[in-house]
Amino acid sequence: MSFDRSIKIAPSILSADFANFGAECAAIEAQGADWVHVDVMDGHFVPNITFGPAMCAAIRPHIKGVMDVHLMISPVDPFIDAFAQAGADIITAHVEAGPHIHRTLQAIRAVGAKAGVALNPGTPAGAVEELLDMVDLVCVMTVNPGFGGQKFIDMTGKVRTLRSMIGDRPIHIEIDGGVDPVTAPMVAAAGADVLVAGSAVFRGGSVSDPAPYGANIRAIRDAAAG
Ligand code: DX5
Ligand code: ZN
Repeated sequence: MSFDRSIKIAPSILSADFANFGAECAAIEAQGADWVHVDVMDGHFVPNITFGPAMCAAIRPHIKGVMDVHLMISPVDPFIDAFAQAGADIITAHVEAGPHIHRTLQAIRAVGAKAGVALNPGTPAGAVEELLDMVDLVCVMTVNPGFGGQKFIDMTGKVRTLRSMIGDRPIHIEIDGGVDPVTAPMVAAAGADVLVAGSAVFRGGSVSDPAPYGANIRAIRDAAAG
């Protein structure tokens, strides 16, 4: 994975057809997705349960590009190896998931994955101040994690703060939650470069009619470009 700060669209498969994950991953990539965002939820860190390493391994052959795994789980450390084995390119852990985020990020890099840290809306940018040399991505949650289709929570101030903290380090700023053609320009202007979108990408389309996925991805990308 080479680093550049061009805008990337990362559809979240939380909004995909749960009976057709492999085909949905192939469809969104064919329709222009840059990354595939995989939302892992454990029913403990967040009030919802989705899927685990076995499902990630099952979809890996259907994803040509980056598999961006967002762990909304606690604890994280016991599962890092399994998600790396499943083929995750990026493994993102929440700073709120436990007391030892520094060790968790070390462990993610030790298994050869890119390391991401995620911040819930209530967590200030300063929480990653001591982590900037340990991460390849900072995920700014713009919803409270657990569900797709929620209302965007404006975190543009936090994004601007992070952008200045990061400087020219090769660290992506990812926005996750409520991203659509209205909110995309706000966060792109503040300094974000990876835009996760679930409902705004999958709405109106299906595996058998994927064209809306492409139109939705283009609408978000064009809006972000301003
Ligand atoms: C929420 C997930 C998000 C969510 C995005 O906990 O981390 O990735 O699926 O879905 P939308 O784009 O519909 O808000
Ligand atoms: Zn996510």
